[in-house]
Amino acid sequence: MSKLTTLVDFIYEKQADFPFATGELSRILSSISLASKMVSRDVRQAGLVDHILGAQGVDNIQGEAQQKLDLVADTAFINAFEQGGDVCGIASEENDDFLAFPSAHAQKGKYVVLFDPLDGSSNIDVNVSIGTIFSIYRRISSEGTPATLEDMLQAGTEQIAAGYVLYGSSTMLVYTTGKGVHGFTLDPSTGEFCLSHPDMKMPERGRMYAMNEGNINTCEPGLKEYIAYCQSNDNDYNAPYSGRYIGSLVADFHRNLIKGGIYIYPAIPASPEGRLRLLYECNPLAFLAEQAGGLATTGRKRILEIKPSALHQRIPYFVGSKLMVEKAMSLLQK
Ligand code: AHG
Ligand code: MN
Ligand code: MN
Repeated sequence: MSKLTTLVDFIYEKQADFPFATGELSRILSSISLASKMVSRDVRQAGLVDHILGAQGVDNIQGEAQQKLDLVADTAFINAFEQGGDVCGIASEENDDFLAFPSAHAQKGKYVVLFDPLDGSSNIDVNVSIGTIFSIYRRISSEGTPATLEDMLQAGTEQIAAGYVLYGSSTMLVYTTGKGVHGFTLDPSTGEFCLSHPDMKMPERGRMYAMNEGNINTCEPGLKEYIAYCQSNDNDYNAPYSGRYIGSLVADFHRNLIKGGIYIYPAIPASPEGRLRLLYECNPLAFLAEQAGGLATTGRKRILEIKPSALHQRIPYFVGSKLMVEKAMSLLQK
């Protein structure tokens, strides 16, 4: 049997690739791995245990009904980061404001983490794949002081690492530190993430598009034209593409990363700025997409170069195989 490489082995092996190789990033990734195993365990008990399924009974700052699992996941990740000592603060989709960790120990941390603790909340109660998305930055403020808003509002180009955990038919952790994209599958028998998808590359094109087509009538003409192109015989495959929309960005992204495809969430009247959040969803997946050879844009400009103006900022999102995103952009800009 060939030797299994665990996530822990792998991140320590790769530590030297990291520009500030002092072990902190490895420890943060270990914290993410630990929290994600706890969330994965809870997800696997959904339906059996009372505190997992259903709504919490409150809305988050974005007016969305929080699910119990949104909060279970949020707490698991916040605790892991706070206790780890390398993270001075976090921002999460589920919290109104960012958190600057108060302890002197945490304030010495050099990093901030921004995350969507549970992506695909509407799929929790119906046993469909969901995930966690994260993004790690070096702080701008001085070490030993509380984390600041400025630490959180950095352009995606400044990400040190990013990734996601997919609680699907298996649990996978996929991450990049800017040296390719690597995927690990959780072995439930040993509780270890094992390297299963080294150096992932997104195919240049694919035959699947993911969009909530219920919104198509309200989309701009260029996007209607792109979807018509996907559905026609007059495209690069001379046959209609398949529509695949899970409604969990992280799961749609993961499929497109492996098989090739495009995910689109445009600006629509109900979400005039787009629906997805720049800091917690779009930037981390944009970093992964680019590292895997794909693209991520607003339809007009590169996601990673946008200077964020607010924590919960939303943005139109086109992410996936390079040639597909380029084609969509060419029709939008016509
Ligand atoms: P979240 O569950 O973190 O709020 O994110 C949901 C996102 C994304 O995962 C998904 O693709 C999209 O919202 C679904 O939106 P629609 O229901 O409008 O299609
Ligand atoms: Mn989400
Ligand atoms: Mn979420």
